[in-house]
Amino acid sequence: MKKITKICCIGAGYVGGPTMSVIAKQCPEIQVTVVDINQDRIDQWNTDDLDQLPIYEPGLKEIVGERRGKNLFFSTEVDKAIDEAQMIFISVNTPTKTYGKGKGQAADLKFIELCARNIAKVAKDDKIVVEKSTLPVRTAQAIQNILDNTGNSVKFEILSNPEFLAEGTAIEDLVHADRVLIGGNDTPSGQAAKDALSAVYEHWLPKERILQTNVWSSELSKLVANAFLAQRVSSINTISALCEKTDANIQEISRAIGFDSRIGPKFLNASVGFGGSCFQKDILNLVYIARSYGLNEVADYWEQVIIANDYQKSRFAENIISKLYNTISGKKIVIYGWAFKKDTNDTRESAAIAVADALLEERAEIIVYDPKVSEERIYADLDYLNTRSPEENRRLLKVTNKPIEVTKDAHAIAILTEWDEFKTYDWEKIHQQMLKPAFVFDGRRLLDTDTMKGIGFNYYKIGQS
Ligand code: NAI
Repeated sequence: MKKITKICCIGAGYVGGPTMSVIAKQCPEIQVTVVDINQDRIDQWNTDDLDQLPIYEPGLKEIVGERRGKNLFFSTEVDKAIDEAQMIFISVNTPTKTYGKGKGQAADLKFIELCARNIAKVAKDDKIVVEKSTLPVRTAQAIQNILDNTGNSVKFEILSNPEFLAEGTAIEDLVHADRVLIGGNDTPSGQAAKDALSAVYEHWLPKERILQTNVWSSELSKLVANAFLAQRVSSINTISALCEKTDANIQEISRAIGFDSRIGPKFLNASVGFGGSCFQKDILNLVYIARSYGLNEVADYWEQVIIANDYQKSRFAENIISKLYNTISGKKIVIYGWAFKKDTNDTRESAAIAVADALLEERAEIIVYDPKVSEERIYADLDYLNTRSPEENRRLLKVTNKPIEVTKDAHAIAILTEWDEFKTYDWEKIHQQMLKPAFVFDGRRLLDTDTMKGIGFNYYKIGQS
């Protein structure tokens, strides 16, 4: 296998952008080109003002500022980058299908197939093709079939190298990865390809953290990792509902069970529900795959994780309605946070969307503040649901950049993202200017109960009566 001097990544999104930036930083002798068909996105990656990059991640703009134009490039010249590279990462989106067979569950692989066909068309010499996107188990077979039928005798090795970064901590997760997974064929050329990719990561990670498996284990491991993580969130969230009925405290329960070394303390924070582009989509995909093999009990088991998550979101919205005397029509409710978690501007599957939609159905007047999400994005998220007309969404919901001022004469505040800045607000002042009784519904367990009640709020926190 040739030495890797040029890498191309197809897809300049939340995974492609940060991942390739870190590779460029850690491997200065490798030229990394990230390509995308979306001209706007590439223009944003090339912007002079690093605060305008298309993705917000702590530490990202510093790396882009340091490497861009040296060994890190963002471009729409997809064919040229494919042609020049020895190793091509596919990092395009793999959303849940919205049409046809598997609608609402299966992964839509049309973007992956387009990439494979494009690589097949352009490649003139042997390439290593790396699946970075999260894909259903056995997708590599389909990619291989497309690539092997080009008739130009170019040899392709397909590797699976799923990404485990979490948004909000992407750079930290990439630089200090718990593990890197590389799946490939056991043939001599497959082994050489796995070693070539391993050598890229060995620039900064110890070799023992780079695991090699067969392709199918690697593809399936990513779905299983996300399913297990989401399952933990849904598990603790279902118990939060029970806590609210029994005077037990979810934080005390998390602490008590987390001390058991078999359970461990991480990922046991109850909240308004998980969001993000991956958990739901990947579990739905797992459910679909299990069902397609006739494994209905397996499918039903994992489907419950999604059902519990939907329940948590609707439960939160219903609690707001019932505590506000069963009517919120015309009442001003301020939503703090629209991103699916703190330190990202990503809103995909954010719990805030579902909660806002439920409150709008009851004709509440909503004002949203998020430090990183644009007004345009918020309206696009709501319009996408198709629950009501875009005009009505804009009439009932406003977006603000003045989080304190807008609480004047508000009936309630709902905290839906755990942004640190919410903890620093002058809650006494906010309380003074709200209508009384003033309600705060804390979907992230961000604030201190005694302090908030001491100020005079009717304060409701997930998992506490
Ligand atoms: P994204 O939607 O942010 O980015 C995908 C990009 O691919 C878009 O900019 C799109 O224009 C581009 N694209 C689509 N088809 C193309 C084509 N034929 N040629 C060139 N560009 C094309 O998606 P994101 O979040 O980066 O996810 C990518 C993959 O990584 C998905 O499979 C996802 O499941 C997986 N993943 C995502 C994580 C996350 O935290 N967002 C974490 C781990 C894996």
